[in-house]
Amino acid sequence: MSYSIKNQGDYEDHYQRALEDGERFWAQVAEHFDWTVPWKKVCSGGLSKGDMKWFEGARLNITANCLDRHLDSRGDKTALIFEPNDPEEKSVSYTYRELHRSVCKAASMLESLGVRKGDRVCLYMAMVPELLIAVLACARIGAVHSVVFGGFSAKALADRLKDARCSLLITNDAGMRGKKVIPLKDIADEALGQCPFVKNVIVHKRVGRSVSWKEGRDLWWHDLFEGQPDHYSPQELEANDPLFILYTSGSTGRPKGLVHACAGYMVWVAYTFQNIFQMGEDDVYWCTADIGWITGHSYMVYGPLLNGATALMFEGVPTFPDAGRFWEVVDKHRVSHFYTAPTAIRSLMGAGLEFVEKHSLSSLKVLGTVGEPVGEEAWKWYHENVGKGRCPIVDTWWQTETGGAMISTLAGVTKSKPCFAGRPMPGVNPVLMNERGEVVSGFGVSGNLCIGAPWPGMAQTIYGDHERFLETYFTTDPGFYFTGDGCRRDESGLLRITGRVDDVINVSGHRIGTAEVEDAINQSGRVVESAVVAFPHEVKGQGIYAYVVGEDDSDTDTDGSALKAHIRDKVSSEIGPFAKPDKIQIVRALPKTRSGKIMRRILRKIAEGGSKDFGDTSTLLDSAVVETIRERAL
Ligand code: WTA
Repeated sequence: MSYSIKNQGDYEDHYQRALEDGERFWAQVAEHFDWTVPWKKVCSGGLSKGDMKWFEGARLNITANCLDRHLDSRGDKTALIFEPNDPEEKSVSYTYRELHRSVCKAASMLESLGVRKGDRVCLYMAMVPELLIAVLACARIGAVHSVVFGGFSAKALADRLKDARCSLLITNDAGMRGKKVIPLKDIADEALGQCPFVKNVIVHKRVGRSVSWKEGRDLWWHDLFEGQPDHYSPQELEANDPLFILYTSGSTGRPKGLVHACAGYMVWVAYTFQNIFQMGEDDVYWCTADIGWITGHSYMVYGPLLNGATALMFEGVPTFPDAGRFWEVVDKHRVSHFYTAPTAIRSLMGAGLEFVEKHSLSSLKVLGTVGEPVGEEAWKWYHENVGKGRCPIVDTWWQTETGGAMISTLAGVTKSKPCFAGRPMPGVNPVLMNERGEVVSGFGVSGNLCIGAPWPGMAQTIYGDHERFLETYFTTDPGFYFTGDGCRRDESGLLRITGRVDDVINVSGHRIGTAEVEDAINQSGRVVESAVVAFPHEVKGQGIYAYVVGEDDSDTDTDGSALKAHIRDKVSSEIGPFAKPDKIQIVRALPKTRSGKIMRRILRKIAEGGSKDFGDTSTLLDSAVVETIRERAL
């Protein structure tokens, strides 16, 4: 059996076999990869204890599967096309052989600095090929990569460096996003002030910006990289050795570092990529996600390379030099498979059709979306104007925790319905639960989405806090993985994700915890307390609405613009500019219950458009507070 699904019948067959005998099914898929030692047990542990392990006893290296495995058959095939931010700058491509060589050199470079298996290496970089090379170099050594999105602030970077005790940081002098220069090294320097345990910083020169330098700690990539040997044998790792840590937000507390292990993640990502996108050997795939997020990890780096595909990496933004850039790049590189976020679609939709119509887009075969619900209007626009009505759209639902896509249409193979993620991937058992923790069965029903069986891509733990891992995901509905999303199952069994049911906001496809934003606001010194909720936003999907009680009462009477600016700056420096509230309403008090709990439900309603029907308000301490807030809502 190859692991590709070619038609509806194959899908039913895979689904059935994965359901009936999952261990046998995943063993058959896993046989397609290179292992240095085979596994003893395909799956052990389970959801009831949150201790699932895959392919125990096996040894492997994921980069041997991403690179070495293809050298004989695809050594001269293009693995990576890099399209720079500036359209005038030449794009660069790497064949599988060239990429292999660069990864070997980078692995030797890391080893020469003392990086060993199990060490944590933080990558805080622009979307340049060296980021992908560094990711793979870590994996080749068995060092655990922790990629931190380049939009995060110094404080957020420092928190992540500290949490994982990274011994090495790799960054750029700066990054370019459109006309904006992101001073990555300066931001890293600020973070490093709090992180004396980081022994070295490798700086890859991208922009040519002058940067400050700490002798003995800071090293240029180009100085170290040149002269390294072309060959580096991949370290043999245990199946459940950690491959990477990736931080994501939850409904409470600080961001959590989800840990993915080598073997299960590899099999899951490779299998889902192949079957969802249905790429042919000569196709060109482009995922617009930054490697700083899970989509970039799984479907920019690992998924395409594991399948020997050609993947395009883009440094810039969709609107530079104008809103036609995506489509220009599609034509330039004859992209056939294009995977992006609904927020990008919505923003380009707003820019007008002329930017799309200038380009032929005739190479496109399959379109994909990920990260947030795609509304009907954006779905149709994407389908008609980008896909010209002939490209299937795969709406892939998944999470940082799940490693790869869990619910998705398979392009051209299974039935697609606008705005529906569709059917579960083989091996995935989606279950809807009501508030009482009862399974909601049948069709035309909604509930909280849980997963009822282990799958190979599930994260193993939260770095340094296994208790939190168990509590967050496995205690709400014992025996099930709790996703935090709401879901509807239609009459034909197709699934539609309706959004988060917890206190997580999805802003332009970025997960942000309301508690994180509140913490940042409250630390601004001039705030007594705050409550943050989401409101529907035309482009971002959700926007951030903050209700703030200031220390100085006069702020409520004036427009409070100084305090608002102060709050925005604080959020920007604590988390990053992307988490800045869109709306800040300064209020005298927050609506609370008699026991002192903030009634977020009411605040959400007001943020959504000020409905007067607030449901049961009998537990409210002071109902006049609600009226005042509503009258002055933004
Ligand atoms: C949301 C991104 C609707 C969802 C891969 C989930 C989606 C969160 C979809 C995870 C989709 C992701 N339709 N909502 N196709 N895909 N989401 O961890 O709320 O950054 O829980 O992973 O994004 O975000 P994360």
